[in-house]
Amino acid sequence: MENVKIKDKEFALFIPEAKILEQIGRVAEEINRDLADKNPLFVCVLNGAFMFAADLMKRVDIPSEISFVKLSSYKGTTSTGKLKELIGLQEDIEGRSVVIVEDIVDTGHTMVSVIEQLKQKNPSDVRVATLLYKPNALKVELKLEYVAMEIPNDFILGYGLDYDGYGRNLSDIYKIVD
Ligand code: IMP
Ligand code: MG
Repeated sequence: MENVKIKDKEFALFIPEAKILEQIGRVAEEINRDLADKNPLFVCVLNGAFMFAADLMKRVDIPSEISFVKLSSYKGTTSTGKLKELIGLQEDIEGRSVVIVEDIVDTGHTMVSVIEQLKQKNPSDVRVATLLYKPNALKVELKLEYVAMEIPNDFILGYGLDYDGYGRNLSDIYKIVD
């Protein structure tokens, strides 16, 4: 499938599944090497990271657990806009190595907020594994330990990422046609 139409917009094939899986394999190897004796807890940020988390975890071969969280809107706002609350984490992460599993880092505001909220629970360390990273869109200081692919500032979808809720089921990543 070279082009797809999702709702009112047209998208063109950008990163085929084979390339995605190859880069996820590389990230998994890095994690297996770095965290071999750390018993990490992977924290998958739903909804966007569900496919990445599944393919990543199939390639992680060290003792580890995975949990799933979501972001819900706070009542208040900050200078950076809506502050979102991390919900659904049941595990006690005190003293634990945590790896956030995220679909995409764009401005970075979401990731900074997720890291801050997790750090309030006193983990021993927090790392980020993101499928995609748009370096030219980053607006905050942020360390990303594991990045599967860097991409330009175009809107993309597929492989878990959506446009208005649709397109998450696509196994390849598509870029908007303008
Ligand atoms: P940030 O807070 O600006 O880094 O935004 C991160 C969130 O915006 C991601 O978790 C996605 O849900 C969403 N997002 C950013 N860029 C895209 C895109 O190109 N396609 C789909 N969702 C995106
Ligand atoms: Mg996300």
